[in-house]
Amino acid sequence: MCGIVAFVGTRPASPVLVEGLRKLEYRGYDSAGVAVHAGGDLAIVRAVGKLSNLDAALAKAPLAGTVGIGHTRWATHGRPSEANAHPHVSGPVAVVHNGIIENHVALRHELEASGVVFASDTDTEIVAHLVSRALAAGAGSLEAAVTAALGRVTGAYAIAVLSKTEPDVIVLAKDQSPLVLGIGEGELIAASDIPAILSTTRDVVFLQDGEMAILRRTGATFEAKLRTVSGEPVTRAPKRIDWSPAQAEKGGFKHFMLKEIHEQPRAIEDTLRGRIDLTAGDVVSQELGLEDAIATSIDRVYFVACGTSAHAAMAGRYWVEALARVPATVEIGSEVRYREPVFTPRDLVIAVSQSGETSDTLAAVKAARAGGARVLAIANVLDSAIPRASDGAFYTHAGPEIGVASTKCFTTQLAAMLMFAVWLGRRRGSLSVERAKSVLEALTHVPSLMREALEDDASIRLLAKRHLKARDMLFLGRGIGFPIALEGALKVKEISYVHAEGYAAGEMKHGPIALIDDAMPVVVVCPRDGHFEKTASNLAEVRAREGQIIAVGTKGDEELANLVAKHEGDLVTVPPSAPEVVHLLTVLPLQLLSYHMADLKGTDVDQPRNLAKTVTVE
Ligand code: AGP
Repeated sequence: MCGIVAFVGTRPASPVLVEGLRKLEYRGYDSAGVAVHAGGDLAIVRAVGKLSNLDAALAKAPLAGTVGIGHTRWATHGRPSEANAHPHVSGPVAVVHNGIIENHVALRHELEASGVVFASDTDTEIVAHLVSRALAAGAGSLEAAVTAALGRVTGAYAIAVLSKTEPDVIVLAKDQSPLVLGIGEGELIAASDIPAILSTTRDVVFLQDGEMAILRRTGATFEAKLRTVSGEPVTRAPKRIDWSPAQAEKGGFKHFMLKEIHEQPRAIEDTLRGRIDLTAGDVVSQELGLEDAIATSIDRVYFVACGTSAHAAMAGRYWVEALARVPATVEIGSEVRYREPVFTPRDLVIAVSQSGETSDTLAAVKAARAGGARVLAIANVLDSAIPRASDGAFYTHAGPEIGVASTKCFTTQLAAMLMFAVWLGRRRGSLSVERAKSVLEALTHVPSLMREALEDDASIRLLAKRHLKARDMLFLGRGIGFPIALEGALKVKEISYVHAEGYAAGEMKHGPIALIDDAMPVVVVCPRDGHFEKTASNLAEVRAREGQIIAVGTKGDEELANLVAKHEGDLVTVPPSAPEVVHLLTVLPLQLLSYHMADLKGTDVDQPRNLAKTVTVE
């Protein structure tokens, strides 16, 4: 959702801010703005729409200062407009904010009653007025004024605040919205996410909930002071991030999404690295962040996740049940709070989230821990909120995922979950050493099989062209093919704006079959995964209703090739593999199909309309 960048240095701040905001575009936004200290004043430029509009506005009014804050806004309170774009100003103060001030209605009434005239519909403007009032009331410093203002607000926030009264200072604070501080050579930068600071520094400090950072330039000295909102000093050494700036670039691909699809073999290698012991047929325990005893002390695995991560969790459920023989369930993050779920110390909750910041998943983690359950996070972003709120973290190491539509994070989540299921099965004695070895070995072959599968990119583009006019699509799968079908449908919806439904193949007769006619492409995921015969029967049922078949099967499967030819359908194949890992491959053609449909339609592939990469609001 919204993105924040703050910079204190000796070079002009505004290009650094805009470059940082550009790296946060993937989070989703509809307007942007910057504020920079300039000649004893604050210069503010804002624009609705894409960053190119802000660029154009800045070209007309270049800003010279070396201390500033920037923001991309994803509208919550108030429509996208220049007046609602951040930074928001009150007296000498300018504020950018990511999150939601929950008591904004009461505070707005109070401020209006005392004579404040609001310039925007946003909740953020309240913070600007509160800080400005605290300064006017004699708070003595921007740091003290922000502290006083934070004492009045409840909700989720990451904020960056400037004041004309202290031209060499930026005050930052965070609660439930991400904020990372970068310590550069003679400069300081902060942002909502790591890609925005990588070209300045890779030495970072992750701010934690309830903390503030005061960035200060004194002559040639730069200091970042950390403290809690309640005043205790915080000391935290910077961590070196192993993501390179190049990883956050397109690297010659037309879109980040396409680059990330093709990065999957490398991403899986990174997820597996150092975690598999093929000789012992086991997964290295220390990597999971959970002690072995948990494996035998639990009665249930309860996955919680949203969107694509929930589809990965559904696959995880199959593996946990099949390999570890532990009852497993999957709950959508946003529904947990409405379920009054029963958690016990005999539950292991697995929270799956690429960003590690999804607010619904985070709320579920907190509910699970309150109920006494142990929580393992499977996340991609180091030290993000969900891993921090969990007992252990298993990182997917996919590298930065910039495209809003998740691809490499999905397949690395699958790899992580399969490893987890093996780890659990080995400790519970439900998985033999031999079977564990064969599953893990199959996993190590996945990167090279993926490389082979991705070679079909050009033919999948032709397939996308043939089905470009489709208004609706159906995706069917059985077993783990079902979450893959859901994921294929979600990808198509998200980026090509075609209505698509994912269904369990066995459910087709219970409703969706009524939708099938000659205008409906039906994607059937039917590799040799142990369910082939049954799923293949769906092909005939689809064709009998004149649906257009797109079958995703195993290369060299003559029976499938003949069936598809008989039904005048299209066939896409993935290389033969062990059944346990085949669906790490079948999702690739679906990702490519959705990508090419979107690209051929000319949609904004990396930043699809209305979507945000990190959903930090309920
Ligand atoms: C994936 O393509 C989506 N953009 C979305 O469904 C996403 O998976 C969901 O918002 C969950 O995000 P998370 O993995 O960061 O928690």
